[in-house]
Amino acid sequence: MSTMCAYMPPNTTIRPSLIVYNSFEFRYFIKYLSSVMSIVFVRRFQTPKNIKFNISYFLFLNMTLNKNKEIKSLKTVEWKDNSLILIDQTKLPTKLVYTKCNDYIHVAKAIKDLVVRGAPAIGVAAAFGMALAAYNSKARSISSLSRDLDKAFEVIRSTRPTAVNLFWALDRVMKEGKKGKTVQEIKNLILNEARTMAEEDVENNRSMGAFGSNIISDGDVILTHCNAGSLATVAYGTALGVIRAAKESGKNIKVIATETRPVMQGARLTAFELHHDGIDVSLIPDTAVGHIMSKNKIKNIVVGADRVLKTGHVFNKIGTYQIALLAKAHKIPFYVVAPTSTFDLQNTPSDITIEERSREEVTTIGGKKIAPDGIGVFNPAFDMTPPELITGIITEKGILKHPFEKNIKKLKIGIN
Ligand code: MRU
Repeated sequence: MSTMCAYMPPNTTIRPSLIVYNSFEFRYFIKYLSSVMSIVFVRRFQTPKNIKFNISYFLFLNMTLNKNKEIKSLKTVEWKDNSLILIDQTKLPTKLVYTKCNDYIHVAKAIKDLVVRGAPAIGVAAAFGMALAAYNSKARSISSLSRDLDKAFEVIRSTRPTAVNLFWALDRVMKEGKKGKTVQEIKNLILNEARTMAEEDVENNRSMGAFGSNIISDGDVILTHCNAGSLATVAYGTALGVIRAAKESGKNIKVIATETRPVMQGARLTAFELHHDGIDVSLIPDTAVGHIMSKNKIKNIVVGADRVLKTGHVFNKIGTYQIALLAKAHKIPFYVVAPTSTFDLQNTPSDITIEERSREEVTTIGGKKIAPDGIGVFNPAFDMTPPELITGIITEKGILKHPFEKNIKKLKIGIN
C-alpha cells in the first residue's frame, strides 16, 4: 500500500517521488543537503582560519532549526489548501507520513483503517469530511446538495460505531449547514463549523490539562493506556494533555504506557509522542499492569474515553476495564479525561455497540503471523468501565466527582 496516496481513488497512479518525499528520512536528507551547501558557500568566502568554526556553526544552526520546525509542524488533523491532511498513524513510529484526503470517501476510509483514530480526532476528521462532501458537490439547488450531504453523512457515520464524537461531529455540522439559505452559504457554514471544532478541541484539551494537572504531584509515576494524546485529538491530547500540563507546570513526572494489544497504540503512538516531547516514558506489556501496581510503582492512572454515559459508565480502549479493576484493588486513583463532546446522554450501556475488528489484528504482529490458521478469534476494540471504579472524570468544565449521574446532569451538555 502507498503512503501519501493510500486513499487515492482506485485508478489513480502514485508518483514515487511523492511517496519518498513523505518519508521522514528523505526530508532529513534534503535538510542535510542544504547544510552541506551552506558549508560550501562558507568555504568559498572565508579565510582558512575561520573555516572550521563556520562549518560547525552552520551545521549546528541548520540541524537545530530544522529539528525544531519538525516538532512544531506535527499536526494530527489539518485543513490545508482545501484538503484534509492527516498523519498516517498506521505508519508510526517508524515513519512520519501525511495523507492528503480530497474527498469524503478518503476520509471515511482513513477513519475505518485507523489512519486517524482516537475519539476527538475522528470527530474533527469526520466534520472536515463533510466539508469536502459539500465543496465537491456539483449540486445547484439546496435539495440536491442535501441529498449529497446525506449520502456522505451515512458513509462516514458507518465507519466506526463506538466513539460518540463521530456522531456528535456529524450531527453538529449538519445542523449548522441547515442554517444556510443558499448552496454556497451551506458549504461555507459546514467548513467554518469544522474549523471551529478543530480550534475548540485544542482549547478543551488545554482546559482539561489545567484542571487535571492538579491531581498530579511532583515525582508521580502515572500510568496511561492506549493513546489519548495529540495523535488522538487535533493537538495536545486529553489524558496526555493532563500529563503535558503537569510537566509544563514544572512537575517532575514519569509515565508508564501500556503497549495496548492488538493495535499497539501505547507502544507505537503514546511512547512515540511522549518521547518526542521529552517526557520520561517507559513501555510495559499489558500483562505487567497488576505486577507493577503491586510494587507500589504507580501513583495515578489517566485514560481517555470514547463515550461517557450519563450514569458515568465509560467506554474506552479494550483493557481499560481490567486496569480500573486492578487500580481499585491497589487503591490507586483512576481518572478518565474526556471533553463533553465525548458524553452521550441518550443511551444506556446495553445500547452501545462495541466495535469488533478483524481477526488479523490479533493473529499477526507487524504483518507477521503469530497464531495458527483455523482458530477462533474474538477482537473487541473497546470495553466498559463502570462508574464505581472511576475516581473522577476530568472535562473541560472541571473535574466530575461522584455521584456522576447527578454531577453530569449539572454540566448541561449541548447537542446531546
Ligand atoms: O481504536 P482507537 O485507537 O481509536 O481507540 C482510541 C481510544 O480508545 C482512546 O483511548 C480514546 O479514543 C480516547 S482518545 C482522546
